[in-house]
Amino acid sequence: MSAVKILSNIYWVGAIDWNMRHFHGHTYTTKRGTTYNSYLIVDDKITLVDAVHASFAKELIENIRQVVDPGKIDYIVANHVETDHSGAYPELLKLCPKAKMFGTQKCKEGLQKHYYGNWDFQVVKTGDKINLGKRTLQFIEAAMIHWPDSMFTYCPEEQLLMPNDAFGQHYATSERFDDETDPAVLMEEDAKYYANILWPLSSVIARKLEEIKTSGLPIKMIAPSHGIIWRRDIKKAIDAYTGWSQNKTKPKVVIAYETMWGATEKMAYKMSQGLTDAGLEVKLYDVAVTDRTEIITQMLDAKGYLFGSSTHDNDMLTIIGGFLAFLKGLKPRNRVACAFGSYGWAGGAVKAIEEIVKEAGITLAQPGLSVQYVPDENELKRCYEYGKEFAKIVKAG
Ligand code: FEO
Repeated sequence: MSAVKILSNIYWVGAIDWNMRHFHGHTYTTKRGTTYNSYLIVDDKITLVDAVHASFAKELIENIRQVVDPGKIDYIVANHVETDHSGAYPELLKLCPKAKMFGTQKCKEGLQKHYYGNWDFQVVKTGDKINLGKRTLQFIEAAMIHWPDSMFTYCPEEQLLMPNDAFGQHYATSERFDDETDPAVLMEEDAKYYANILWPLSSVIARKLEEIKTSGLPIKMIAPSHGIIWRRDIKKAIDAYTGWSQNKTKPKVVIAYETMWGATEKMAYKMSQGLTDAGLEVKLYDVAVTDRTEIITQMLDAKGYLFGSSTHDNDMLTIIGGFLAFLKGLKPRNRVACAFGSYGWAGGAVKAIEEIVKEAGITLAQPGLSVQYVPDENELKRCYEYGKEFAKIVKAG
């Protein structure tokens, strides 16, 4: 995709990664690909904010070349070390070796440990500004959004916030702005990014949002380094982040289970009937057949979780085990959960699930429900009632 003017003399010069399907190793399934957004500001000092993945360095350089000779770049703002935004620096800096880089102290250290380059780097802190001519850039340290080195860059003359990973989405599109794309898909990808990457950093994000609100910086455009640029639905984007970062939920239950011969699945379906009849929104997933990234996204606004597994070797099955280990790392707060499952003789899955649920900081709402072998009519009725009882707990908030 060619360079796109986003404001007067400011251009998107990034890359669209249509075929990216796995991000962060295999921890995040990017079914709609991703973008690496890089912004070129043409002022007295020609400035690039963030770069792209190394495999798209050629596209970045070609896009810059459509606007200016890359050799004329004076400044490079590195908001983040992670290689999806920094990978192209070695190739780019061959063309503009005298460009001065700006970033946090941790960014300087991190780039050095990635690329071992002899680059001109100036460390900046929150409140520091650089003058580009007609515009200034102001820096806001944003440690742990999403690495210790992370930083936001703000241009007061344009009321433009460039917050790198924050407000981004893994979403490959030919459109660049929120008013040009399907808002439902955009919000789905926005929530997916938050749930699968930023959720454990919620307390830091809540504080940063408050800091930005208190500082009273007017924002007319949020240009993240992944996905769509926000210029119409800025309030919607900030409100969504505010709610997620405060772990706000709704009366919704996600049932996630793994089943060996179908008995645990029968229990899950009966519980879902009880919950649905009680008026709750329910999502039900066999974790062995549905992608984890999608399930985690649905868990972001759900108050209640029901986790099920058949017993195998006195433990839960391995896919639900991996799923719960991932969820524990996301540090969900203000949630309630229960465990259930079928066993043959000794049992063990329900206890194993309950242990990891407690370690994850999720409240166990009621004792787990186990059934030997295949549930009979009475046991299925008990599963239905169990769902209804859980619904009351979820509704109580
Ligand atoms: Fe998009 Fe934390 O890198």
